[in-house]
Amino acid sequence: MIKNEKLMTKRIAVIASGRGSNFQAVINAIAARKIPAVCAALITDNPKAYAIERAKKAHIPVRVIDYHSFPSREVYERALFSAMQRLDPDLFVLAGYMRIVGNEIVRAFNGRMINIHPALLPSFTGLHAQQQAIVHGVKVAGCTVHFVDESLDGGPIILQHCVPVLDSDDEDTLAERILHYEHICLPEAIRLFCEERLVIDGRKVIVR
Ligand code: GRF
Repeated sequence: MIKNEKLMTKRIAVIASGRGSNFQAVINAIAARKIPAVCAALITDNPKAYAIERAKKAHIPVRVIDYHSFPSREVYERALFSAMQRLDPDLFVLAGYMRIVGNEIVRAFNGRMINIHPALLPSFTGLHAQQQAIVHGVKVAGCTVHFVDESLDGGPIILQHCVPVLDSDDEDTLAERILHYEHICLPEAIRLFCEERLVIDGRKVIVR
């Protein structure tokens, strides 16, 4: 039993820019042994990210690659890429990483990088997805966990969960309702990946 568990244990690394509540949900799920993985590192582009405190509390190594300390986006991306190559986990989890990942990185970790987005993709890609949903007047919103490809929030979809949009909602109330399910869906998608149950078939992700 223990031997099987060991064989299944994957190494994941999380990339986050801010508050890190999704990161915390992943930490908690690993601690509760709901995900057969260890978190090898947190990478952040933001030295002030609260996610750093969460990592420290969980004894997870932190690698800060401060975006603003680099002369250009290209130089930053090279530093990020080499940190990612050095870590070389089974899976990178973008959990509130607020930048677009460059194509070289996406290609290098094809099928090994997932992202959580606070909308029912393919609607409302990019920033302020919840506000976009309210402005558009949709009646349901939600979250999506997907593999990262070279498009913006457009990679193969692993899991989605929907919530109602109420007439009284503003960006904050809707974001809070969606966030509750992000914290369920992201660990669940990681679990499926770590159990080797996800098969990418073109645009589809089959859950075995
Ligand atoms: C989440 O809503 C995530 O979907 C989006 O940014 C937010 C990050 O929240 N990409 P947190 O840092 O995980 O608390």
